[in-house]
Amino acid sequence: MCGLIGYIGNEQAASILLGAMARLEYRGYDSAGVATVDNGNVHVAKDKGKLADVIRECDIKTLPGQVGIGHVRWATHGGVTRENAHPHCDEKASIAVVHNGIIENYTEIRSRLSRKYRFVSETDTEVIPHLIRDFIDAGNTFEDAFFKATRELKGSYAILAVSATEPDKVLAARKESPLVIGLDHGSSFIGSDVLSFLPHTNRVLYLDDGERAVLTRDSVKIYDEHHNELGKKPTSVNWEWKQGSKGDYNHFMIKEIEEQPQVIRQALIQDNRLLMKMAIDILRARQVVFVACGTSRYAALIGRYAFSKIGRTFSDVIIASEFGYFSESVDKGTLVIAISQSGETADVLDGVRQAKANGATVFSIVNVVGSSLARMSDQVLYLNCGPEIGVAATKSFMAQLILLYLLSFSMDNSLSEGKEKLREISALVEADLHYHSLYIPAMAAKLKDKKDFYYLARGINFAMAGEGALKLKEISYVHAEGMPAGELKHGTLALIESGTPVVAICPTDYTYADTVANVMEAKARGAYIIGVSNVNEPIFNEYVRLSKVEEVLYPIVTTIPLQLLAYHSAVARGLDPDKPRNLAKSVTVK
Ligand code: AGP
Repeated sequence: MCGLIGYIGNEQAASILLGAMARLEYRGYDSAGVATVDNGNVHVAKDKGKLADVIRECDIKTLPGQVGIGHVRWATHGGVTRENAHPHCDEKASIAVVHNGIIENYTEIRSRLSRKYRFVSETDTEVIPHLIRDFIDAGNTFEDAFFKATRELKGSYAILAVSATEPDKVLAARKESPLVIGLDHGSSFIGSDVLSFLPHTNRVLYLDDGERAVLTRDSVKIYDEHHNELGKKPTSVNWEWKQGSKGDYNHFMIKEIEEQPQVIRQALIQDNRLLMKMAIDILRARQVVFVACGTSRYAALIGRYAFSKIGRTFSDVIIASEFGYFSESVDKGTLVIAISQSGETADVLDGVRQAKANGATVFSIVNVVGSSLARMSDQVLYLNCGPEIGVAATKSFMAQLILLYLLSFSMDNSLSEGKEKLREISALVEADLHYHSLYIPAMAAKLKDKKDFYYLARGINFAMAGEGALKLKEISYVHAEGMPAGELKHGTLALIESGTPVVAICPTDYTYADTVANVMEAKARGAYIIGVSNVNEPIFNEYVRLSKVEEVLYPIVTTIPLQLLAYHSAVARGLDPDKPRNLAKSVTVK
């Protein structure tokens, strides 16, 4: 996934674009670049590396002109090199393009055009400016050439383009990769998400798949792919810019971890009638299937237990990238619940498209208003947790849990009691945050040279084992594995040796005795036990005290120490928790 930004207005474009790219950097940080248009020329500055490095190495800040496009890259086609960084230009350097997505037919286009134009990169994107150039050389205006060129592309794309010969416009095209327009007086913005231009305006227009946009200083026009103008009304986004800034925190991740008490309270603000309606549809469905990726899938696994224990309804969870292999058993009697913070995860969108094609009903639990998933769903519950910038999902995971519990309580017709329980837990979480922050940094530092961590649990806590392991490995680059505690003796026990850290999630719920028995098997082989429980056990080498809560709600209080352990492990290792290598905040490619 990459981050795009376009601007046309009366200020120096480069400084506007750089500010936006800094807010988009969580979407991609292996290279960056800007193109501006001024005085009949396109000016490009780009390089590999994080944005700060590129700004230092290139002369981006001084680029002239009040029109421009910018890009932060997460490499898909072509290595991390300066040549592969965006923007990409035609041979005459009079057209510049930035792109997010994958052009599936780029090889055939490239083989045709490389006979006429010189290609300088390995990317799929570079075919776009050359294709536009080819249509201009055939007698089209820049705008017509853009429409014709983008109609020829197959795959997924969010494209922005500017031209030296038609300098007073930014052109855009969208298919399966997000683009949203920001409207201000005398200027227009277009970016991969609202955050990119939020300090300037919160009046937005969402581009849908297949649509094109022409931004000028005085107008924004939306078209279908055949250049027929569409009437779309702007809306306002109720995010404030400060939610997207780091404030006094060292990292977005710790800021977002500490926002969670408020996030719980915000997530409780829902339309009760909608919750009850969705609950009735869930109870009536022939089958209920969750579809999600990564941390959102672990939330779904907890939702599965909550639906069963509270809502007395069986459901299943399918990894989004595997969903297509189950399509034969998805029909109009199926209710699919898609969970996605970004609402743009390609695997989830694919699964939902498949489900809808089979006649299934689709509910979604999403954070980003106006995201592709939100707009594809029959019903949407919003996390209301504000923008989540850290690549590692934290507050969005907590908000997902809350909404899943609310749906479960609605299925049980005990919504108001359930809301009260969750509101009380938000106070516990507030206290726990302070308590755990007193000792977890030292624990993380003590364990910082360990190479393998095993997270063990049973029942509803097993999903927390997986999520805890994912948090640790994705930002600390340490091998970590979450598994059902009962599975240990079926293989993994062979890996346990003296000092191997085992995180045992064993609150005194229905899984306690069996889990402790499994943990003793690891202890007997020398494992270093980090006990996560509301009671301390002699076999624990370290004790993470959980507040005592109703059994089915333990994942809420377990989340905090596992997130803090991961965050402080990354910091102890001298890593940047906000921008882990090779990862992106939302994976908009398959
Ligand atoms: C979680 O910390 C990771 N960032 C990743 O697993 C993420 O949860 C996954 O890519 C799904 O993203 P989504 O919720 O936006 O669909």
